[in-house]
Amino acid sequence: MSLKIGVVGTGYISHYHARAAQALPGVELTAVVNHRHESMAPFAATYNIPRQYLTVEALLAEGGIDAVSINTPNSLHAPQAIAALDAGVHVLVEKPMAVNAAQAKEMQAASRRSGAHLMVAHCWRFDEEVLWLKGEASRLGRIIRTTGDGVHVNWGPGGWFTQKALAGGGALADMGIHAIDTARFLLDDPYPVSVWAKIGTYYTDHDVDDTGSIIINWDNGAFSQIESGWWQPHAGGPEANTQLYGTRGFGSLFPTRLSLPNPEKERVDEVVPGYPHPRDEHCPQLMYDTQMAYFIDCIRNNRTPNPGGAEGLINMLIVDAAYQSSLSGELVAIA
Ligand SMILES: NC(=O)c1ccc[n+]([C@@H]2O[C@H](COP(=O)([O-])OP(=O)(O)OC[C@H]3O[C@@H](n4cnc5c(N)ncnc54)[C@H](O)[C@@H]3O)[C@@H](O)[C@H]2O)c1
Repeated sequence: MSLKIGVVGTGYISHYHARAAQALPGVELTAVVNHRHESMAPFAATYNIPRQYLTVEALLAEGGIDAVSINTPNSLHAPQAIAALDAGVHVLVEKPMAVNAAQAKEMQAASRRSGAHLMVAHCWRFDEEVLWLKGEASRLGRIIRTTGDGVHVNWGPGGWFTQKALAGGGALADMGIHAIDTARFLLDDPYPVSVWAKIGTYYTDHDVDDTGSIIINWDNGAFSQIESGWWQPHAGGPEANTQLYGTRGFGSLFPTRLSLPNPEKERVDEVVPGYPHPRDEHCPQLMYDTQMAYFIDCIRNNRTPNPGGAEGLINMLIVDAAYQSSLSGELVAIA
C-alpha cells in the first residue's frame, strides 16, 4: 500500500522534500499545508498535490495521511509536530527541531505516546562525502578534536529567520547546528558534557545572533570548535565543513580527504576520494532524496530514525547551553 505524505510549508526547503517524496516508489504526495492560499496553490499545482489545507489541524481532522514533512518557521515545528504525532502521523521535521530543548522534549514525548516516528532533518548525515569520511574515520586513530563551520559569507537570511519570536535563535540555531550535528555524527554520536560560547550580533540589527564561536566537550573526551554566522567576511569552508584531528591523522570535509602521516617512510599519505571541490551544488537534491528515502524506510520497517528526536534534542541542548554560556561568560554543564 502506498504511503500518503503531506508537506507543511511551501517555501525553499519544501521543494526539496516534495521532489524527494515524489521520486520514491510507493509514496504519494497527497496533501499540502500553508496558511496562505496564494503560496499554497502554485506549490500544489507544481507537484500536482490534490489536497490543500490552511492548517495542520484541518489536514489531520480529515485524515488519510501517513506522514508529514514540517518545513515551517522554527516556532511552528513543535506545535505542528505534536499535533501530527498525537494523531498517529509520522513526522519528518526540519532543523532546528524546535526553538529550545524544552519543546524538543515535548515532541519526543508525543512520539513515545503515540508510537508515531519522529525524524529530524539533520540532512548532512545523508551526504555522500560525510558518509565517506565517517567510513574512513577509524584510520585517524582516536579523534581528539574537531573544527567546523556553519557560516554564510557576505550573506544572511531575512524575514522570519531574523526574528527571535519565530526563529528561536539566529545563525547558531540556523547554521551552526549543521556543523554541530555533522561533528557529532562523525564522532559516532557522543553526548555533550559542557559548552562554552561567545555569541553576538555584530553585522546586522536583528534581535538574533549573527556571530558565534562555540566549544563543546564530549563525553568521550573529544572537543569540537564550531563557528556559526551570517554575513561573515570569511568562513573556514562551506556549510557543515568539518575537520577531524586524530592521533594517527587528519580528516576533512569540503575538501574531503585524509592526511595520514607515515613516520616509517617519513612521508604523509594523502587519501583523496576525488569528489569535486567546490561542488556544483553544495546542498544537492541527492542528499534530501537519501534523507526522505531513509524516513520512509523507517516508517515501513518500524525503525526508530537516527537522526530522530534524541539527536534533535541533543543539538537543542547544545544550542541552549551555548546561548546561556554566552550570556553568563561561564562554561555550562549539560546534564
Ligand atoms: N536542511 C536544510 O538544508 C535546510 C535548508 C533551508 C531551511 N531549512 C529549515 O527548513 C525550515 C523552513 O525554512 P525555509 O528556508 O523553507 O523557509 P521559507 O521561509 O522559505 O518557508 C517557510 C514556509 O512556511 C510557511 N508557513 C509560515 N507559517 C505557516 C503556517 N502557520 N502553516 C503552514 N505554513 C506556514 C511559509 O508560508 C513558507 O511557505 C526552517 O526550519 C529552516 O531552518 C533547512
